[in-house]
Amino acid sequence: MTETKTIDETPQGARKVYIKTWGCQMNVYDSERMAGLLQPLGYKAVDVPDDADLVILNTCHIREKAAEKVYSELGRLKAHKQAVEDQGREMKIAVAGCVAQAEGGEITARAPQVDLVFGPQAYHKLPEMIARAARDKGEVLETGFEVEDKFDTLAVGRKADGYSAFVTIQEGCDKFCTFCVVPYTRGAEVSRNVDAITSEVRALAAQGLREVTLLGQNVNAWHSAPPVGDDHMGKGTWGLGELCRHLAKIDGIERIRFTTSHPRDMDDGLIAALGEEEKLMPYLHLPVQAGADKVLKAMNRGHTGEHYIRLIERIRKARPDIALSGDFIVGFPGEGEKEFQATLDLVEEVKYGSAFSFKYSRRPGTPGAGMAKQVAEDVKTERLARLQRLLEDQKNDFNRAQIGRRLAVLLEKKGRNEGQLVGRSPYLQSVHVLAPDHLVGRIVELDITGIKANSLTGSLPVHSAQGAEEKVS
Ligand code: SAH
Ligand code: SF4
Ligand code: F3S
Repeated sequence: MTETKTIDETPQGARKVYIKTWGCQMNVYDSERMAGLLQPLGYKAVDVPDDADLVILNTCHIREKAAEKVYSELGRLKAHKQAVEDQGREMKIAVAGCVAQAEGGEITARAPQVDLVFGPQAYHKLPEMIARAARDKGEVLETGFEVEDKFDTLAVGRKADGYSAFVTIQEGCDKFCTFCVVPYTRGAEVSRNVDAITSEVRALAAQGLREVTLLGQNVNAWHSAPPVGDDHMGKGTWGLGELCRHLAKIDGIERIRFTTSHPRDMDDGLIAALGEEEKLMPYLHLPVQAGADKVLKAMNRGHTGEHYIRLIERIRKARPDIALSGDFIVGFPGEGEKEFQATLDLVEEVKYGSAFSFKYSRRPGTPGAGMAKQVAEDVKTERLARLQRLLEDQKNDFNRAQIGRRLAVLLEKKGRNEGQLVGRSPYLQSVHVLAPDHLVGRIVELDITGIKANSLTGSLPVHSAQGAEEKVS
């Protein structure tokens, strides 16, 4: 395209792009891929918007607060853009992500300083959209759904940054929980094909990556396409369990994680893989949202509290030490004190290693927003505080139980203090240790000696001279 060529001729690094990201890990993945896509066009990613030629806000629509943050940021950027233009320079503002998908043209109506609005399935068209914005001046709006094109284009030539990375394998959701915007912002469930995933992970491994976290809004709904002819499987479709076992064979990849899973898609194959595949880490984020069947039904979760508890039992039977994590919503319409108590009871029974919990936020266009018996804000606040106290205690209990154990820790980077490195335990806990820099990027056995608010402290085993005993698993 001629427009793109104009940009292609720009010397490397001559333009600056500032990307601000809110929301889930998939947004983080998408932002990194957007930066990668812009690099060949001469854009260098910068950490502050000050002298950026292009600002991309990668947004989240999940709760009202998340969406409102975008408009506050746009307010700040408006004055900045004006000042830049007064100096005779240009600055384009783009709104990407789930707010862009949900609100589309309303964004430019409310914030005319915005030049481009595009949803999560349009990122691969970014170069073309920038060219169009430069040429046509008016706003550019792209909110179609073509997930597969996005998968194919975004990961090409990806550079590994550090030793652990996200890889998207599935996007979208067909579950339609009545509180949630994701099916509307990310579209229907689409699984990425095995070969594309494998080549992205292989390429990252070749650059020194040790750990991969497979991402999807419903990651365990991932499945391969039905076999055609002599395709790579030949034995029927694969689920996430088979995919993990397959990726575990890639040299250099020592750890595999995946998130977020849905209780309804937790099949036997995946549970067996969690028990048998050593490279699959013993951590599972499996949101339940609430404990009372009445609330779960109104949420359209498709499972009861009892079903979830039985599922956890099966998972623990396969992998007894697994760290469980979850998401909770308090104050969904119709939740009385009795129903809320059922959530606390479920948490007491499951015992989580970590968790996220939120007050129900009424999202426009979702069935929950129109339901009767909305819960008052102060009641939500009080319930959230009670739930969070319980979850906090459970997290501390889980962390404390690691003291005295020897855990394999992937040391990822230097810590804030002199001589300190930071890494992750198999259970995804942060671990701080005094250790030599050359151990960054290695999986090292550490003795866990203490806990802090959000992390563990460890030490290299005493008899290991300079980490000579380090066990690279
Ligand atoms: N796909 C994942 C998570 C999607 S969003 C899943 O099915 O679990 C992440 C979390 O945000 C949800 O698990 C839920 O706990 C929370 N959430 C979603 N919509 C919400 C709303 N309207 N109000 C409050 N929390 C919400
Ligand atoms: Fe939202 Fe439910 Fe889909 Fe998760 S499963 S993304 S909570 S609709
Ligand atoms: Fe938010 Fe969209 Fe992720 S709404 S949580 S950024 S899928």
